[in-house]
Amino acid sequence: MSVMYIRGGAPLEGELTIHGAKNSVLPLLAACLLAGGPVTLHNCPDLTDVEAALAILRHLGCGTKREGRDLTVDPTGASGCSVSEEQMRAMRSSIIFLGALLARAGEAHLTYPGGCELGPRPIDLHLAAIRALGCEVSEDCGIHCHGRPRGGEVQLSIPSVGATENAMLCAVGGTGVTTIANAAREPEIYDLQCFLNALGANVRGAGGSTITVEGGRALHGGEFTVMGDRIVAATMLSAAAAAGGRVRLRGVDWRHLSPVLSVLHQAGCRVTSRLEYVELLRDREKPLRAVPTVRTAPYPGFPTDAQAPVMAALAASEGCTLFVETMFDSRYRHVAELKRMGADITTEGRVALIRGVERLHGAKVEAPDLRGGGALAAAALGAEGVTVLSGLRHIDRGYENLETMLCSLGGDAVRREN
Ligand code: EPZ
Repeated sequence: MSVMYIRGGAPLEGELTIHGAKNSVLPLLAACLLAGGPVTLHNCPDLTDVEAALAILRHLGCGTKREGRDLTVDPTGASGCSVSEEQMRAMRSSIIFLGALLARAGEAHLTYPGGCELGPRPIDLHLAAIRALGCEVSEDCGIHCHGRPRGGEVQLSIPSVGATENAMLCAVGGTGVTTIANAAREPEIYDLQCFLNALGANVRGAGGSTITVEGGRALHGGEFTVMGDRIVAATMLSAAAAAGGRVRLRGVDWRHLSPVLSVLHQAGCRVTSRLEYVELLRDREKPLRAVPTVRTAPYPGFPTDAQAPVMAALAASEGCTLFVETMFDSRYRHVAELKRMGADITTEGRVALIRGVERLHGAKVEAPDLRGGGALAAAALGAEGVTVLSGLRHIDRGYENLETMLCSLGGDAVRREN
C-alpha cells in the first residue's frame, strides 16, 4: 500500500499549471461515442477515473491512445451498448454513458454507478430526463434503456450536473429540439457544450439555466482542449492558505473560483486574479481569521467539492466558522481525520462548527474520499511535523500526482510503499 509522507510547517512558494478538469473530461470522453471520427483531447489529466472511462470506451469497441496530455479516442469501431457492473462501480461518471449510448445506439444496458460515498446519490433525475426524451427505461436487474431519443422538454427538479450532461448527450443524438430547464450551470457543462459544438452539434445556453439542443446533426471527429480543474486549484490555494507563503496558479479561470477566493480573502489571504493566473499570498506570521458561514450551493455558489479543502485551511484560524453542506448528506468524513491532527470541529447533520486552533500537528490519517484526501494534504502542509496520509486510491481519482504538485509549490511530500 502506498502512503504519502507530508512534512508541514514551512511556507509554500512557487508556480503551478493546473491540470485538466476531471469533471469536464469524463463527460467529454463519454461524448466521444457520438463522434463520427477520431477525437483528440488536449490537457487530458492522467487520473484513475480517466482510466476507468477509457476502459469503458475500449470495452464498447473504441480505440484509445495517449501521448502525454493528448488523448485520442477513435469511436468508429464502437458497437457495444452495455457496460459491466465492475466498470459501472469504478466511478459515478460511468452513468453519463447512458445518454451517450442512447444517442449512438438507441440502446443502453448498465448498472447503478459507484463513486465517492457522499451519502445517497440517486439517478432518478437522469432516468426521468431519458424518459422525457422518449426512451423506455426499465430497472429490472440493472438499467435497460431502448429507443431513439427525440426532442422534448426536460425539467430538472434539482440542477444536477450529471443529469444535465446525460440529457445533453442523449438529446444531441436524437431528433428535434430539446430544452433542459433548471439545468446545472457549472463551467464543466459549458465545456461540454463547447466540445459538442466543436464536433458539429448545435447546443446553446450552457452556463445559464436553460439549455437548448438541436438534435439530429451528425457529429464529426476533431480536437478540443479540456478546461483547467477549478477544484484542484481550490485545493492548492487552500494548502497555501494553511501553510502560508505565495503561490501562483496558471491554467485555470479565476472566475470559476470566485466564491472560494472570496472566502480565502475574508480569512486574511491576499488574492490577485489576472487573466493568466491567480495568486495567493498569506503572511505566515498572521493567523487566518474565521469567516462568515460557508454554505455550499450549485454553481455559481460555493462548490461542495471545495468544502473540505477550505475547511482544512480554516481549522487553524482565529475564531469560529460554520460550514453548511447543502448538496450531499455525508460530506464531512474528513472531519474525523482532521481531528486526529488537532482540529476542533463538531458536526451535526449537514452543519459543521470549526473552532479554530492555533496550529494542527502531523498524524496518521486516511483519505475518506477524493476531496477529503485533498483537504488532508492541505492541512498537513500547514501542520507541525509529519503526516502520513493513506487512502491514496481516492486521491488518484482526481489529482494527478498530488505529491508532485505540492512539491512544485515548495511543499515536502513524498509517496512511498508502506
Ligand atoms: C458532480 O456529481 C460532480 N461529479 C461532483 O464532484 C460534484 O460534487 C457534484 O457534481 C456537485 O457539484 C462529476 O462531475 C463527475 P449532482 P453529480 O447530480 O453529477 C442529487 C468530485 O469530488 N441528485 O449535481 O453526481 C444528488 O444526490 C465529485 O469531483 C438526485 O437527487 O452531482 C445531490 O444531492 C464528487 N437525483 C444533488 O442532486 C439524481 O438523479 C447534486 O448532485 C441526481 C442527483
